[in-house]
Amino acid sequence: MAMLENKRALVIGAASGIGRETACLFAREGADVVVADIQIELGQETCGLIQETGRKGDFVGVDVTDQTSVDSAVAHAAEFLGGIDVLVVTPFVGTAPVLMGLTQADWDRQISVMATGTLFAFQAVIPQMQKQGSGGSMIATSSAHFADYGAMTHPAIIPGYGSGKAAVELLVRSTATLHSPEGIRVNAVMPGFTITPGAVNLMKENGVEDLAMIEAILGHGMPMGSGKPEDVAEGFLFLASDYASYVTGYSLPVDGGSLAGAYGKLAP
Ligand SMILES: NC(=O)c1ccc[n+]([C@@H]2O[C@H](COP(=O)([O-])OP(=O)(O)OC[C@H]3O[C@@H](n4cnc5c(N)ncnc54)[C@H](O)[C@@H]3O)[C@@H](O)[C@H]2O)c1
Repeated sequence: MAMLENKRALVIGAASGIGRETACLFAREGADVVVADIQIELGQETCGLIQETGRKGDFVGVDVTDQTSVDSAVAHAAEFLGGIDVLVVTPFVGTAPVLMGLTQADWDRQISVMATGTLFAFQAVIPQMQKQGSGGSMIATSSAHFADYGAMTHPAIIPGYGSGKAAVELLVRSTATLHSPEGIRVNAVMPGFTITPGAVNLMKENGVEDLAMIEAILGHGMPMGSGKPEDVAEGFLFLASDYASYVTGYSLPVDGGSLAGAYGKLAP
């Protein structure tokens, strides 16, 4: 049997990269999926891929930094799908690995897209799941860049990004503590370096021209090399499914061993 047979999923950030692959995998595993993103054309393209699987799919435009926009995207998804069992939140914006050159605008954008956007999505979906009364699974996106395995194990070189992900981590845990008694599981996936349009563009903006160069920088710290969005999507699938029915308040690394390797041990 498919892992998400007849589940109703909203994937925010699904026009590209990890979000797109997650939305498509969910549909192949039996879910109906609403795709939400700020990029309309690419979002509609993902929606077409969902429909090709034979499952119901729809697209709704959303800017996660705007609470009204998130509320109306969630309302649209709940109406189209007849409810929401699974929420995935994956939007991404990057900033350069600098501290002194980090502007307030960059900092605010980073925090609002990654952390505040996740908060707005949780706040909009929780009442819907409460009304349904059958629980649900909400999954945010952290990063192997922020890995608090009880020690400073991560190469903390991107202050804005890392701080945004730290907020996501704490938001996930506290939301799980508050709402898992209602059957709403709350987790995050923690990808390692994954080849997506977002990651590749950010690297290019910072002077890293090609994948070989990225792999040389991260070196032996990635035992299984760079990830593909399809690899990371499988982490979301597990957490969305009933196979994770007793998993909540947790971040699942899907990183090809990055946290075990040197990539996770560069910081002092
Ligand atoms: N790719 C990696 O190496 C990597 C590593 C660790 C964590 N992650 C995390 O995975 C997630 C997905 O990243 P990706 O690499 O697939 O990026 P991506 O840029 O390929 O996709 C991100 C999507 O977010 C959307 N988005 C951006 N701002 C938005 C907004 N305000 N409202 C709605 N949607 C918005 C974009 O339009 C895009 O479709 C991010 O949270 C990222 O931090 C990625």
